Amino acid sequence: MTDPATLEVQFLADIAAAPDVAALEVVRVAALGKQGTISLLLKSLGGMSPDERRTEGPKLNALRDTVQTALTARRAALEAAELDERLAAEKLDLSLPAPHRRKGYVHPTLQVMDEMISIFAELGFAVAEGPDIEDDFHNFTALNFPPKHPAREMHDTFFFSPDEAGERKLLRTHTSPVQVRAMRSQTPPIRLVSPGRTYRCDSDQTHTPMFHQVEGLVIDKGVHMGHLKWTLETFIARFFETDQVTTRFRPHHFPFTEPSAEMDVRCDRSGGEVRIGQGTDWLEILGCGMVHPNVLRNCGIDPDAYQGFAFGMGVDRLGMLKYGMPDLRDMFASDVRWLAHYGFPAVAVPNPASGLS
Ligand code: DAH
Repeated sequence: MTDPATLEVQFLADIAAAPDVAALEVVRVAALGKQGTISLLLKSLGGMSPDERRTEGPKLNALRDTVQTALTARRAALEAAELDERLAAEKLDLSLPAPHRRKGYVHPTLQVMDEMISIFAELGFAVAEGPDIEDDFHNFTALNFPPKHPAREMHDTFFFSPDEAGERKLLRTHTSPVQVRAMRSQTPPIRLVSPGRTYRCDSDQTHTPMFHQVEGLVIDKGVHMGHLKWTLETFIARFFETDQVTTRFRPHHFPFTEPSAEMDVRCDRSGGEVRIGQGTDWLEILGCGMVHPNVLRNCGIDPDAYQGFAFGMGVDRLGMLKYGMPDLRDMFASDVRWLAHYGFPAVAVPNPASGLS
């Protein structure tokens, strides 16, 4: 019979040398399997004389225990090493873009809205929101649209059927009602922008029945038209990331501002694309003006103490200009090919410090 001490040295060496769990299993079967060397030796105890059994028994039992303990320890070490190796090999960097799996995109309108908000946030504007379904008071009356005034019709309003009280709710035609809600619930100074959906019954290359606006409102003491112009020109330069953009202010009329103006951006619309900063076309992108004293009064603010300026801009149109999209209607046609072309990866969060687009 092979000496248990020699067997121990041999098995412990085999166990230590097993490179993986499968090889270790081979060693285990050779030592402790049914036909394994140690198992057969233990079985042979039955055929020994009582004296022999008394000296060999403890040695063989000790051998079995030592080998078993070494097997268990080695298995645990090998399994831990295999897990470490797998964890290292399967490491995923979730901050990297996954170009082959990109299925979802951020719509350019939402991207542009985030860009606008980040610029105005840097200028100290808060964000305010209001409901899409508005009443006549907030959408028109408080904003100084006289009853039956043709401007109400010019807004091509979508009205709901009258309720039991005879009141017709409507889909807001602009984001200006948020001004009213803000002025009626806050005390000046107020400095806010309000992004959101707006609705008018209109559709052509530069109009869609649903579109997006960002409203701006500043109310404080001593606010004048110069502040308005600086704010908008600063915004445009930041938004287009260049000082080369030409803008023009045209006198205009809005019931809720006096004086009122519209701002256009010079562009070239020939050849099925919009190019900014060149050409002879002008695209109207926003309306603005000094908040009308009647509006301040309607909202409980004393026009002799406070002045303000306001503006409302078309988000989709600014997106068209910045990213060269020729037809506004494509933006809401839900064509995934268009979205794959003009959409933004979800990780491209606009931030003025690192660049907007
Ligand atoms: N509400 C106007 C529109 O939708 C845009 C506008 C013009 C908003 C002048 C303003 C403003 O706040 O002062 O056409």
